[in-house]
Amino acid sequence: MRKTLLVLLLYGMAVTSAHAGLKVIGKGDNMRLDPSAFPPAMKANYDILKVKCIKCHNLERTIVALQTGIAPISGQPFDRNATKAYGVKMLRKPDSNMNKQEVKATVELMNWLLDEANK
Ligand code: HEC
Repeated sequence: MRKTLLVLLLYGMAVTSAHAGLKVIGKGDNMRLDPSAFPPAMKANYDILKVKCIKCHNLERTIVALQTGIAPISGQPFDRNATKAYGVKMLRKPDSNMNKQEVKATVELMNWLLDEANK
């Protein structure tokens, strides 16, 4: 009985993870997301993120955080509770060249993408 439950559980995980993930284009420095299936509001937010969040590091850093749920440098959780804090942290860096509105847009997008990545 226990074994059957375990098998069912593993099967369920395999089925759901088959749909998981974000549509990623390119690798390394060129890694970016494919926004073609994004709703309009998220497309607009992505237009901000893809410009503002590559000033100091590439998008791979952000994409890996969204895909794995772990911030790649610190190893801290990167979930809905953390996105805002990371956005603010980036905003506060010297010469971030972002305003609060733009950070808000990117945080909204990251929260939406976290949900998408877990679908
Ligand atoms: C002014 C430079 C700068 C800008 C602009 C910037 N970052 Fe960063 N980012 C850094 C630096 C430096 C680090 C290294 C680790 C740290 O300080 O958190 C980093 C680290 C990160 C990490 C990994 C954090 C960790 O703890 O592992 C993520 C995710 C991230 N940035 C996302 C973003 C997003 C999203 C944006 C746009 C809203 C952005 N960054 C804009 C400089 C920047």
